[in-house]
Amino acid sequence: MTALVAPEALENVPPAVERPHLSVVYGRQAAARPWWRSASIYQIYVRSFCDSNGDGVGDLGGVLGKLHHVASLGVDAIWLTPFFESPMVDGGYDVADYRSVDPRFGDHETVDRIIEEAHGLGMRVMIEVVPNHVSSSHQWFKNAVSDPTHKDRSKFHFRDPSPVGGTPNNWRSAFGGPAWSLEPSGRQYYLHLFSREQPDLNWEDPEVRADFEQTLRFWLDRGIDGFRVDVAHGLFKDPLYRDNPELPREVRGGLAQGDGERHCWNLPEVHEVYRGWRRILDSYTGERAMLGEVGVVDREQLALYVRPDEFPLAYEFEFIHTEWDAVATKETVSRLLRALDAVGAPATWVLSNHDVLRAVTRYGGGEQGLRRARAKALLAMALPGAMIIYNGDELGLEDIDVPEEALSDPIALVAGVPGRDGSRAPIPWSSEGPAFGFSEAGSWLPVPDGWGGRSAVLQERDPFSTLWLYRLALSIRRLPALCAGDMRWLDAPEGVLAFERRYGKQRIHCIVNFSARPIVMQQGDVLLSSSLRPIGGVLEPDTACWVMAPSGDT
Ligand code: BGC
Ligand code: MG
Repeated sequence: MTALVAPEALENVPPAVERPHLSVVYGRQAAARPWWRSASIYQIYVRSFCDSNGDGVGDLGGVLGKLHHVASLGVDAIWLTPFFESPMVDGGYDVADYRSVDPRFGDHETVDRIIEEAHGLGMRVMIEVVPNHVSSSHQWFKNAVSDPTHKDRSKFHFRDPSPVGGTPNNWRSAFGGPAWSLEPSGRQYYLHLFSREQPDLNWEDPEVRADFEQTLRFWLDRGIDGFRVDVAHGLFKDPLYRDNPELPREVRGGLAQGDGERHCWNLPEVHEVYRGWRRILDSYTGERAMLGEVGVVDREQLALYVRPDEFPLAYEFEFIHTEWDAVATKETVSRLLRALDAVGAPATWVLSNHDVLRAVTRYGGGEQGLRRARAKALLAMALPGAMIIYNGDELGLEDIDVPEEALSDPIALVAGVPGRDGSRAPIPWSSEGPAFGFSEAGSWLPVPDGWGGRSAVLQERDPFSTLWLYRLALSIRRLPALCAGDMRWLDAPEGVLAFERRYGKQRIHCIVNFSARPIVMQQGDVLLSSSLRPIGGVLEPDTACWVMAPSGDT
């Protein structure tokens, strides 16, 4: 796509020394430095991606077989959700052994091959680390509950019932219900901020710290390029186990938590742990990265996680949950950028993940949902920072209705709500077949008839498909203005959001029409439009476009 750039735009890039973190390499590799500042990272929810052994569950062999699809999008990295040994109560976020590979997902050799092939295709490989809790099948927890004098007991939070009986305090699980359950012997309660099969670790125990550091090194030594850190704002709890103030909780996606829950989330001690992890990452060559899932609402608190010696990137949620509205979106983006600028950190932009409704569904489903999700993708990819893509968003997938008997998410099973399974539907690779190319057999979640209509194979042939929109957008996003340029908001009519990204003379405008009426476009060459049926000179409702602004114009 560099042919679209006037040659002088590339010649007038400010010298790297003026902006050391923005030295730019042109062509396929054009990116801000370090690579994560403008990265596009593709999240692979392994059990729903592709099944290579016919058991109906996605696996690492399936990932290997589809690496070309991912590479054809032009992303910088993949992030694999947990594939470690697990009873799979929470889809693998209940880890029994952090250095193992669950046989249902594959083996270490397949991980090695993924690393090798992904690297060969120019992509980095990030995996997940889940430090807040383990599975109740983890050896530590088994030891802890089998023998009250065992040293592993201090790796968890065991407490007596409150003096008036019942749970030790009022802390609640993010999945609903109390965060405390009695251990099997009935002796004491143990803490679990998620399901009762996910006991929280006590990070005051030095062996916990040492063991996780060893896990990081284990995977880094194998060639992994970094980690997504699950519930990074967890880990430490109030040593006095005081009640949380009774403030309303926000339920976001399936997960309920809030900044009101101040005694069990986001304690300041957590930062020292990540400083230590960052030192480990930095001791390896190759700009190894760490993406923290930081579920705090307060922007200034979020920014603390991405100070220069902590996380390179914080995965955050406000942008996902912002309603379809120009003013609200501008406010979300501005607030995040302001807070992160103060610590010199890049933002991340996310449309969907395995914990929330997919963007198409969130924005109304059907054609309207798809139009908005496509527009939001262009918006996100034009903003400064890193873009994180949930597998299937590039096909414009929406949530499926999961029959009650097929529900597997603990939220659905414990709280009796639909839960998160709907956004975890197997990816339709082909237009036909038992599971539309996901598996040669069936799939762990039943997919609706017609699911193949969204398949990758059909979208490959349609130049206006969401698949091609993503490919083109991710490719244009490598232009200096988009990967490293400054940003400023532009004046825009009501219901329209417009901003400029500029690097040297190269200026790209992103315009998003949130309103219900078409707007007439002014000058400039349209680089890309999210419209399903582009009409020249007009930006339809629920549509975004990128325009190359004339370089003389200010
Ligand atoms: C993961 C969820 C998981 C939870 C507990 C989240 O942030 O993304 O899928 O249920 O952590 O591990
Ligand atoms: Mg399988």
